Amino acid sequence: MTQFNYNSLFAERAPITTRGANRHATYDFAVAYPDPDTLPLTGLADALRVALEREGRDLAYYPVSAGYPPLRELVAEKLQRDRQMDVSPDDIILTSGSGEAINMLIQALTNPGDVLLTEEYVYLGTMRQMRLWGANVVGVKCDNEGIIPEALDETIRAQTAAGRRVKFLYTIPTFQNPLGWTMTLERRRRTLEVCASHGVPVMEDDCYVDLRFEGEDVTSMGSMDDSGQVLYVGSMSKIIAPGVRMGYMVAPERVRERALSFKSGGVNQFAALAINEYLRSEMYEHIDEENQALRVKRDAMLAALGEHFGNRATWSRPEGGLYVWLTMPQGTDLASFQEQSFREGVGYYNGTMFSPEGNGANMARLCFGHPTAETVSAGIAELANIFERNGIFSG
Ligand SMILES: Cc1ncc(COP(=O)(O)O)c(C=O)c1O
Repeated sequence: MTQFNYNSLFAERAPITTRGANRHATYDFAVAYPDPDTLPLTGLADALRVALEREGRDLAYYPVSAGYPPLRELVAEKLQRDRQMDVSPDDIILTSGSGEAINMLIQALTNPGDVLLTEEYVYLGTMRQMRLWGANVVGVKCDNEGIIPEALDETIRAQTAAGRRVKFLYTIPTFQNPLGWTMTLERRRRTLEVCASHGVPVMEDDCYVDLRFEGEDVTSMGSMDDSGQVLYVGSMSKIIAPGVRMGYMVAPERVRERALSFKSGGVNQFAALAINEYLRSEMYEHIDEENQALRVKRDAMLAALGEHFGNRATWSRPEGGLYVWLTMPQGTDLASFQEQSFREGVGYYNGTMFSPEGNGANMARLCFGHPTAETVSAGIAELANIFERNGIFSG
């Protein structure tokens, strides 16, 4: 039968997506998944049963648009306790993963042509959404302490002088994806100051904050602001699983209202019931267990890089999160080599994928969250073999 022709009907904004089924290499350091062995499946199943027996009949109603109130209460308590944020459940909207929160805020604030600032390498999903809504995404120079305030100031000035409107800075200050560092307290303060001086709000994406297995917590940018300059997003994907699709935003009322207009209905109440019930009894125990597993994997990756890459590359040493950032000498082309490496058995994402300007061909993100520690060690050894065989080490 002839297929109906949609070609002339698509919205100009609707991109042709190239997202096929996820492909996995034998050793897969490309994907950003957590540890499947520590998923709290039994705890979630028990929690779901308890919650359904107690209030399952409420699933007959449509959920309130900001999401299941008890879970918003729990998130507010957690943010007060762990991130020193003075928030109430009413300041929170639950979303389908933090990705939806980010997308709603982008839509509420962006006109085509507006500038959205990010760190010089940034989470792909956010960059994709920003571009979908017509933004000019501009990366700001960073070092190992985070965003460089002088570079931020200069970038905002240059964009403004060129007649463009800078709408917000998106930052992942804790266990940055993909760079792995955590922004220092002083840099957080300076970043807020510089942005405030130009009337620019800051979207703080704190989705990795609970995955700390070493070092001291640095307080949230949200806790350093009482003017509503910070829009905060968080996620259950890293402390439970991406498959539960639960995240949230904290924003001033006038922003929440605009953002909510881009959400169709409330968030999945079935998932919210289970998550709320589960986290109320086992959240910190579970996070500890997860972090112990991640630490072993991080250590395995660092040890294997030391053994097999030695002084032929440098790499980050994250205190939490899921990523190591590998830097090869200038001139090494990990971008062109990515597909070949995948075919030979090791997947990674090269730096250009995360850079708004397309920089970083000599860099790569290596995710240690999903494979076992043994697989991490074997995979890094294999990556070194592949580089050796293909002349990547010689530049
Ligand atoms: C920095 C960052 N923000 C947001 C997300 C989106 O996560 P989710 O929508 O599952 O909460 C991810 C996913 O990997 C991420 O790395």
